[in-house]
Amino acid sequence: MAVTYELIKTCKQTGARLGRVHTPHGSFDTPTFMPVGTLATVKTMAPEELKSIGANIILSNTYHLWLRPGEDIVEEAGGLHQFMNWDGSILTDSGGFQVFSLSDMRQIEEQGVHFRNHISGAKLFLSPEKAMHIQNSLGSDIMMAFDECPPYPASYDYMKSSVERTSRWAERCLEAHQKPDQQGLFGIIQGGEYEELRKQSARDLTSMDFPGYAIGGLSVGEPKDVMNRVLDFTTPLLPDEKPRYLMGVGSPDSLVDGAMRGVDMFDCVLPTRIARNGTCMTSNGRLIVRNAKFARDFTPIDENCDCYTCRNYTRAYIRHLIKTNETLGIRLTTYHNLYFLVKLMGQVRNAIQEDRLGDFREAFFEQYGFNGP
Ligand code: GUN
Ligand code: ZN
Repeated sequence: MAVTYELIKTCKQTGARLGRVHTPHGSFDTPTFMPVGTLATVKTMAPEELKSIGANIILSNTYHLWLRPGEDIVEEAGGLHQFMNWDGSILTDSGGFQVFSLSDMRQIEEQGVHFRNHISGAKLFLSPEKAMHIQNSLGSDIMMAFDECPPYPASYDYMKSSVERTSRWAERCLEAHQKPDQQGLFGIIQGGEYEELRKQSARDLTSMDFPGYAIGGLSVGEPKDVMNRVLDFTTPLLPDEKPRYLMGVGSPDSLVDGAMRGVDMFDCVLPTRIARNGTCMTSNGRLIVRNAKFARDFTPIDENCDCYTCRNYTRAYIRHLIKTNETLGIRLTTYHNLYFLVKLMGQVRNAIQEDRLGDFREAFFEQYGFNGP
């Protein structure tokens, strides 16, 4: 199998898992956070910089690379790793979610989804077979099944028919996947907030034997306690010997809460997106470095951070760069935010190793400023 998971230990305090995932482009320790490189680049970060913060797997998008530059060009370049000069692991999302979140006028049929290109307006069609073909051309280490991610809230009846279609699509994905020995294909559990439907989805997908499973359909606008409740009843439905990936989740509090519930992998545009409008994640909560109150603040973004940005630059300087649209500004905030999340996951792994993730969560939330469920 192209992708395997090694369970190292579970935290006695919480049940969180410490593990390692092996891919054709190396291994990574879990729980982990995957920076998002939608268009074959983690915006503003050179691959060497990603390496320097300790990232060893990134995410990219089938949908965006299909439209630009086209998967044929990436394949001709020797695959996504060569094309972008990244020799670590890459996971590609299938396009399912992007079609639903970015395009207008989509029409879902059994065969696939008709929609309009979010850039040119041209008519397009994506299906399980096409999503597999594109991801096979891109050559990612982990591919995702083509699924439907319904909006929140969706009715039980709609969700049920959607879950059933996603299961049928998952079978077609397995069938169409051409390189199972080189690329691991993960199935995606849907079902929204409904326990019965999560059970049905997990039963369908685990019977198909994917090398890993994702939990989709979360972080779509539901309250935090709904997400935690869904995770509480969904992760136990998944096999212990395979990795679990919670899609589209990346706020520091949700990473800790997800890991506590047995999630191994996370991704989100949040750290990189907010960095570009001058918002930083710090050990004391979010800091909006654009704010006027930092104009004469010559301290680092986070006094507890030892990243390149915090070791060398002040809030006042970074604020000045961002206010004047100097590109170094958003490079520095992006670097810091990714460093912060990668380091946080390292702390989570250490806490699992020492059976104290519950204590870690309490101390972290106390300082970060979230005290929710
Ligand atoms: N990204 C965030 N949520 C989802 C989801 O439910 N499905 C897919 N394919 N990608 C996602
Ligand atoms: Zn920093």
